[in-house]
Amino acid sequence: MLALAMAAFGAQADDEGRKLFSNVVPACALCHALKDAGAQGEIGPSLDELKPDASRVEKALRLGIGQMPAFPQLSEAQVKALGRYVEAATR
Ligand code: HEC
Repeated sequence: MLALAMAAFGAQADDEGRKLFSNVVPACALCHALKDAGAQGEIGPSLDELKPDASRVEKALRLGIGQMPAFPQLSEAQVKALGRYVEAATR
């Protein structure tokens, strides 16, 4: 029962992360390739190749890195959803 509830929660977070990936402004998809999201951006590194874990994604979103802007408009929950999604989508 608990495992089921957690699986459902995980799927929801993935879904939210996948949507955010294409819908935040500016969209991650504009700059990054990520097969799971159908993204083919070439300005930043391919996330399929980089395979960042969730904490690396979260850090990039909070602080920005190089040419990549920070995303201060995202809530803590949204940052975490994106981190979990990118990690899960690239394992
Ligand atoms: C305007 C283009 C742009 C957008 C939009 C963008 N990125 Fe990036 N991103 C980059 C570039 C360029 C780098 C490489 C930065 C460097 O290493 O100098 C990068 C690096 C990264 C890294 C690697 C960080 C590290 O520790 O090396 C991750 C993870 C990442 N981006 C995730 C995302 C996610 C998730 C989003 C959407 C919320 C996003 N990016 C939006 C351009 C972008």
